[in-house]
Amino acid sequence: MNLRKEIESAARKAGEIMLSANSIEAATDAKSGHANFVTKYDRKVQEFLFAELARVLPEASFVGEEEGAASFREEYRRGFAFVIDPIDGTTNFIKAYRPSVTSIGLLLDGKPYIGVVYNPYQDVMFSAERGKRAYRNGVRIHSSEEPLARSLFSMGTAPYYEELTARSFQIAAAYLPRTIDMRRSGTAAWDLCLLAEGITGLYYELKLGLWDFTAGAVIAEEAGCVLTDIDGNELTYDGPSSVLAVSAGVAREDYLPR
Ligand code: IPD
Ligand code: CA
Repeated sequence: MNLRKEIESAARKAGEIMLSANSIEAATDAKSGHANFVTKYDRKVQEFLFAELARVLPEASFVGEEEGAASFREEYRRGFAFVIDPIDGTTNFIKAYRPSVTSIGLLLDGKPYIGVVYNPYQDVMFSAERGKRAYRNGVRIHSSEEPLARSLFSMGTAPYYEELTARSFQIAAAYLPRTIDMRRSGTAAWDLCLLAEGITGLYYELKLGLWDFTAGAVIAEEAGCVLTDIDGNELTYDGPSSVLAVSAGVAREDYLPR
């Protein structure tokens, strides 16, 4: 089996853990920041993925959203490093607002190499490998060719950082008249996949963890999207960042927020 398929298979098993969840609110703890939660299932999925993927690629290092593995270390710039969000959309998960996904990115020498995002509620697997295109359940996908004016956009509210709320919505207000309408899924990884498969034309969020966007970024770029930070600078994949991602069609326009 190739590496991407092995990672897909681990993501599918992680999805089974998510589907088996019950009494989620009772298994929830608060983290730092506004309304930032973790459940026992986030921890369980991360533990499972670290162990499973260490078998697949023993030389890889790991960074994950939960527990002590959350800060970026210099070693992630060398060789393989898994960047894992065990459950992206934890608040969706707690509230049963779908979807939540498992998101597995793999960096090679600090650059995004493989991305796998799995939504177990609809059994939808997005995956991509650098230079080898992007796929949804094995079928090749391409981002939209529509201009911004004929596109939906989605945004994330950077919910854990109250200091970013006003700016987040100011940008949304500016995009609204330039697009059809706005959507908010509650998972950044899924937002990037919806962009990759041509459902939306633009997505932004003012602060994301590396695990929120690495996997989705590979998928979106391999589907023809362009990703930068909110000011149009190249993403550096070494810690939290804003993200502005646009489809192939929108990439040909003047789309930076004003
Ligand atoms: C969050 C989701 C959400 C985004 C937040 C993320 P989490 O991840 O991706 O859509 O708005 O910025 O942190 O906490 O559910 O894993
Ligand atoms: Ca996340």
